[in-house]
Amino acid sequence: MSRLTIYRDDAPGTAIVRTEDAAAIADNLTPLGVRFERWESPVALTPDDDADKILAAYKPYLDELMGASGAGSADVIKLRPDSPNLPAIRAKFLSEHIHTEDEIRFFVHGAGNFILHADGKIFDVHCTQGDLISVPANTKHWFDAGEAPDFTALRVFTDTSGWVPHYTGAAVHEAFPAS
Ligand SMILES: [Fe+2]
Repeated sequence: MSRLTIYRDDAPGTAIVRTEDAAAIADNLTPLGVRFERWESPVALTPDDDADKILAAYKPYLDELMGASGAGSADVIKLRPDSPNLPAIRAKFLSEHIHTEDEIRFFVHGAGNFILHADGKIFDVHCTQGDLISVPANTKHWFDAGEAPDFTALRVFTDTSGWVPHYTGAAVHEAFPAS
C-alpha cells in the first residue's frame, strides 16, 4: 500500500506524519508542487509484459499527462532482484540530487521510495503499483527500492537528454533510509 512518512530534516526517526490514505498523501505533497495520483490499470498487465504493451495500455493516461506537463516522451524501466549491476544502479539514485525537469514516474508493478527534501522536512513516499508521482524540477530528492529492487515503472521525460541528476553532495539519505 502507498505510504507517506514525513520527518523534520533535523529529527530522523521521529515521524510527524504517517499515512496510507492516497488523498492525504496527495494533500501533503501538493504544497511542494508534487503531483501524486493513483491510476486504475485499464488492462490486466503482468510484470513480464514488454515495454510496448505497457506503453500502449497507459497511452490515454500518458497523452493526458504529457498534454498537461508538456512532456515529450515515455519509456519503461524494469529492475528485478537479479538485474545486473544493482549496487551501481542503486548508488546513482540514492544520493540527494535535483533535475532541471520534472521527474515523472508511474509504478506499473512493484514498489520504490521517492524521498523528497523540502521546507526543512523529509517526505518519504513509498510508491506502489498504480501510483503516479511527479517530482518538480529543482526539488531535492533521492530514490531507493532497496538492495533487491522489484518494480516496473513508466518514465516520462520533458526533454531529450533523459535522466540527468545534479547531486547536492549532502549525505542526508544516510540519516533517512527508506521506510
Ligand atoms: Fe531523481
